This record gives sequence, C-alpha cells and structure tokens, in this order.
Amino acid sequence: MSETPNRFRLRPPGPGDYARLCEWIPDGPAARRWAGPEIPWPLDGPELALALYREYAHPRALVDETGALVAFGEYYFKPPATVRFARLIVAPNRRGQRLIDALITLLAADANRHRTSDTLELAVFADNRAAVRAYDRLGFVALANTIHTPILTLQRAPFD
Ligand SMILES: CC(C)(COP(=O)(O)OP(=O)(O)OC[C@H]1O[C@@H](n2cnc3c(N)ncnc32)[C@H](O)[C@@H]1OP(=O)(O)O)[C@@H](O)C(=O)NCCC(=O)NCCS
Repeated sequence: MSETPNRFRLRPPGPGDYARLCEWIPDGPAARRWAGPEIPWPLDGPELALALYREYAHPRALVDETGALVAFGEYYFKPPATVRFARLIVAPNRRGQRLIDALITLLAADANRHRTSDTLELAVFADNRAAVRAYDRLGFVALANTIHTPILTLQRAPFD
C-alpha cells in the first residue's frame, strides 16, 4: 500500500464535512454512483447529512495530518459477522494516490473495535472502473451470483 494509514485518522463527520462532500459531487450520476440509486441530487450539506443518515451505520471522515478532509466512508455490521462498507469517496484532487487503502483499512480497524468480523464487504456499480480497480487491488472478489449484474457485491477476509 502506497499510503500508510498512520498519516491519516478517522473522526465522526461534522456539518463542514458534508458541505465539502457536496463540492466533490459534480452531478446526479456521480451522486448515484457514489451513494446508490436512491440519492436525490443536488443537495446542500445539511440535506446530504440527512439523506445519508442511517441509524445503523457509522459514517467517518478521513483527515490528513493537517486535519483536512481527504475521504469519507461508512461501515455497518451485517449478521452474522460481516462488516459492510458504503459511501466510500476520496477527494477528487487526491484520487489515484491509493488513499482508498487508508480509508478501508482504518474503517475496518474502527469496526473491529466494536465487533470482530470474518468478512469485509462492499457493493459497487460494475461500470465504476476506478472503484473496481481499487477494490480488486485490495483483494476484494465479486460474489459469483453478482458477476453479471449491474451492482457487484465484493468480499474479502479481514486485514491482519
Ligand atoms: C473509487 C475511489 C474511492 C478510489 O479511490 P482512490 O484512492 O483514487 O483509489 P486508487 O488510488 O487505487 O485509484 C483507483 C483507480 O482510479 C483511477 N484513477 C487514477 N487517478 C485518478 C484520478 N486522478 N481521478 C480519478 N480516477 C483516477 C485509476 O484507474 C486507478 O487505478 P490504477 O491505479 O490501477 O490505474 C475514488 O475514485 C472515488 O472517490 N470515486 C468517486 C466515488 C465513488 O465512485 N466511490 C465508490 C463507491 S462504491
């Protein structure tokens, strides 16, 4: 992994983070590719916080050593022992630098503080090439029954 997770830390997102996230989303298709087909667009920061809110999910802001928001993501628990990631996004000006590695490993470590898991999981539109490449590199594999569907479910074992 090119970006070491200890350059970054997670914290709960605040109103300013949701406003910043809005600046990262150029249009409705990008919003849906990121957050799923149900998300309305455009939204302002407070509306985005409300639209993303799910009682069972743990949203987290990834910040760098200066405290700047560089990525965002959520995790939640799926019985019996799966951690599912969602709404993963890296700041547009930081893409291609493998910040996704830090985001996913820190989200997984955060989840592990609450509950141990035997599977890490996420879903991705099959035509989201940048995301599919990143998850493939990180060792996520598509479940066979999703390979020919528009939305792939990917899984891997927990990080050591
Ligand atoms: C998907 C995403 C989280 C990947 O994060 P990342 O930290 O940029 O991941 P990587 O650095 O591993 O780059 C992954 C791929 O993005 C592409 N990429 C490289 N530079 C890029 C850039 N400047 N802008 C966009 N994509 C770029 C490349 O195809 C790269 O794969 P490669 O390194 O094998 O060539 C990020 O692209 C993103 O936030 N996309 C918008 C939101 C989204 O689609 N989220 C996924 C929801 S499931």
